[in-house]
Amino acid sequence: MKLASDNTAGASLEILAALSKANEGNVGSYGGDDHSHRLNQRFSDIFEKDVVVFPVVTGTAANSLALASLTPPHGCIFCHELSHIYHDEYGAPEFFTNGARLQPISGESGRITPDQLKALEVRFPPGDAHRVSPTTVSVTQLTEYGTAYSLDDLAAIGDYTKKQKLSLHMDGARFANALIGLGCTPAEMTWKCNVDVLSFGATKNGAIAAEAVIFFNPVQAESFAIRRKRSGHLLSKLRFLSAQLEAYLDNDLWLNNARQANQMANELKTIIDNSGKGTIQFSVDGNMVFTTINKDCQTDLRQAGFEFYDIPEYGKNVVRLVRSFNTTTQDISDFAVVINR
Ligand SMILES: Cc1ncc(COP(=O)(O)O)c(C=O)c1O
Repeated sequence: MKLASDNTAGASLEILAALSKANEGNVGSYGGDDHSHRLNQRFSDIFEKDVVVFPVVTGTAANSLALASLTPPHGCIFCHELSHIYHDEYGAPEFFTNGARLQPISGESGRITPDQLKALEVRFPPGDAHRVSPTTVSVTQLTEYGTAYSLDDLAAIGDYTKKQKLSLHMDGARFANALIGLGCTPAEMTWKCNVDVLSFGATKNGAIAAEAVIFFNPVQAESFAIRRKRSGHLLSKLRFLSAQLEAYLDNDLWLNNARQANQMANELKTIIDNSGKGTIQFSVDGNMVFTTINKDCQTDLRQAGFEFYDIPEYGKNVVRLVRSFNTTTQDISDFAVVINR
């Protein structure tokens, strides 16, 4: 069983069915179809605010193009040192911003704090003739450590960015998992905390390949259409991307999928806790479990067919176990049998 990533799961049947339906007939290209036309309203209803939405195919494109809309080439983006944008995107944000600086910050459990941002003011004084200008902060929700920023954490960061006139980006590749974990509304987790732009992920939670860049401030969205085209991310048959996002939102599929994944991750956590074979490293706020597992037990699990990543950056013998919407209780019981041998 693959516990390595939520990208190992296929797509929800509802999304496959929606694609088949979207295949009917000849429709407008490059966003001239009904699915694409409906997206702004669908997301505006969910976020309780008029938003401007652009579908793209990957999370890296969503993050990089969103950050490029917020950050000039001489700007500086503060982010966590193990954030996807800094650690896993091969310099795409630097490329698409035409050279902006990503300034990594170490932070407990994947989170950065306003105090850390404040401490950096001395090193990056605004208006200094020699240093990049602080312009942007990026947070990941769910974080790369499987933890969630609480609403208070986000509000504190948002207060800080607003006061300092910085833009705030959220990488929400696992937005639904964080939302279910916190039990709050999409509005509370974003623009009510002064988030300017959200990379709203769907791929990991049921889509084939679909992410939405959501602007809460239309002015900041002005250059996005151009950036998307120049980077080769405007799909001619955009209906297939938009149809995935629509089906993802229909009948709360996104929330139900995330609820299932989170519940399975929590059951996995309990099994590990009770087994005495590992120590959970961070709070399990969504669908990812970071835990030590002793080497012999890791070997047993791998021999029994469980696949997972070693994450040495997070500590000795630390592994990452990720659950997805298609994980069943049977999968979890199989894991329990092997770990308790
Ligand atoms: C936190 C985070 N952001 C963004 C992404 C999106 O990556 P991709 O470009 O592979 O879709 C991922 C995928 O692993 C991720 O974990």
